[in-house]
Amino acid sequence: MSVWWSVVLVAAFFFVRVKGKECDNFSDVDFHEAFIGTDLYVRLLLYTRANLDCGKELPHHNLTSVPLFHLTQPTTFVIHGYRPTGAPPIWIDRITRLLAEQADTNVLVVDWNRGAANLNYFTAVTNARHTAANITAFIRRMSDEGACLDSIHLIGVSLGAHVAGFIGAMLEGRVGRITGLDPAGPMFEGVPPEDRLDPSDAQFVDVLHTDMNSFGLRAAIGHIDFYANGGLDQPGCPRTIFSGKSYFVCDHQRSVFLYLCSLNRTCHLKAYPCSSYTDFIDGRCLQCEAFKPASCPVLGYDLSQWRDKLLKLGQTKVYFSTTAEPPYRKIGYMVDVITWNQYLRWGIVIIRLYSGKNFTEAQIDHKLLRFEQHTSMRLLALFEEDLYPVQKISLRIVTGNVIGPRDKIRLLRVTVTSLDLPERAPMCRYDIVTEENVEVTFKPLSCEKSHP
Ligand SMILES: *[C@@H]1O[C@H](CO)[C@@H](O)[C@H](O)[C@H]1NC(C)=O
Ligand SMILES: *[C@@H]1O[C@H](CO)[C@@H](O)[C@H](O)[C@H]1NC(C)=O
Ligand SMILES: *[C@@H]1O[C@H](CO)[C@@H](O)[C@H](O)[C@H]1NC(C)=O
Ligand SMILES: *[C@@H]1O[C@H](CO)[C@@H](O)[C@H](O)[C@H]1NC(C)=O
Ligand SMILES: *[C@@H]1O[C@H](CO)[C@@H](O)[C@H](O)[C@H]1NC(C)=O
Repeated sequence: MSVWWSVVLVAAFFFVRVKGKECDNFSDVDFHEAFIGTDLYVRLLLYTRANLDCGKELPHHNLTSVPLFHLTQPTTFVIHGYRPTGAPPIWIDRITRLLAEQADTNVLVVDWNRGAANLNYFTAVTNARHTAANITAFIRRMSDEGACLDSIHLIGVSLGAHVAGFIGAMLEGRVGRITGLDPAGPMFEGVPPEDRLDPSDAQFVDVLHTDMNSFGLRAAIGHIDFYANGGLDQPGCPRTIFSGKSYFVCDHQRSVFLYLCSLNRTCHLKAYPCSSYTDFIDGRCLQCEAFKPASCPVLGYDLSQWRDKLLKLGQTKVYFSTTAEPPYRKIGYMVDVITWNQYLRWGIVIIRLYSGKNFTEAQIDHKLLRFEQHTSMRLLALFEEDLYPVQKISLRIVTGNVIGPRDKIRLLRVTVTSLDLPERAPMCRYDIVTEENVEVTFKPLSCEKSHP
């Protein structure tokens, strides 16, 4: 009996060994090694539709030794950034699977964890240059053997975005596309274009910014730069150091999660061209005419319908707001209000949309709005939930006047228009009388019919 059990155990052991050996995993560097510093070692892990969950290491010098690697198909490289603790990035499995699912492509993870894992950021920055030279040699070899540079897409995260930029520059900007996910800021802010990612590094460069006040970069460095929530602090990320590690990485990592969500088709994040986030949330940049017949650009992998237009426009900055959780999207409405009140008041506006007993609320409180005798204003209201159909709308104009008698406020006209869904008819209401700090609720009418 016990002999049989041993046989079974030994067989199981070998099965696990063999099964495990089949996959080549991302290098796991322990913290101790990262602490003393690692020497650069660059690996290439291949994922395709035929091996979605099981990476296969490619040798650098023999491109025909792995039959899964098809030089005639497009290739997407995924390049990670600085790894202070040496642990593999938590998003590797998800991004490889989602990219390989998009199209029949080779997905190559550039694993330079040995080199990026170092307590000393400056060493990692030096190694980023060496990694770029190494991958450039590999891509040259691919090209010699028949791969097309147009169909190469480099996706770089943080420091990896600059690695992608260096590769692109060494290949004279001929690779098809570079995507930079929150390109690293430290050591790269304010440096000349050849020392960082820039639009000349590829035929098309798209960039997402989520943490430009600490690990990320502020400057626009692509053909299109998406700034999520202004590119600064991301909703749901801790604002104090007491939250431990996530205080440091949350905003920065959000760039990858937004990108994953868009790859997964669960997020539809449309962004508006604007000169600043302040202007965007002030409702001054809600036009998409520049992209006609398309609408404004949507974050993610599939930017092809905007590509030619963006290349013509030069460099474009686009802004959008998100919620804290997937699907991240906020539901935007343009709210045009004409108020009439006797005295000058400063205040904020709180808007609710009701559907049945449910409501969703937007506070337009990023600055004090000026209400004068006759004020016409356009506001951007961003809601967390999409309630439809909207049966009631309420408005509250909150002013600093809490002790005196409340002023009457007349709303000569309120128009509420969906930002992203033009098929939804605008909602109107004329001549509403309310008071400051008091909620007024009304049933929206269709705009034509309600015209007095
Ligand atoms: C790779 O990772 C898988 C899943 O985590 C594991 O089962 C396997 O043993 C690993 N392979 C190697 C060669 O370490
Ligand atoms: C790239 O790096 C790998 C491992 O670090 C090495 O084997 C390979 O020769 C390098 N390629 C070039 C062109 O230096
Ligand atoms: C490349 O790998 C293939 C398959 O393993 C092998 O047949 C071939 O000889 C190798 N070529 C070189 C130049 O090593
Ligand atoms: C894609 O999104 C769905 C729904 O949100 C989720 O269940 C799934 O795990 C996601 N897949 C990946 C690979 O992220
Ligand atoms: C109100 O919200 C609940 C929970 O989100 C949902 O189940 C319900 O269908 C909603 N009702 C209406 C009228 O939208």
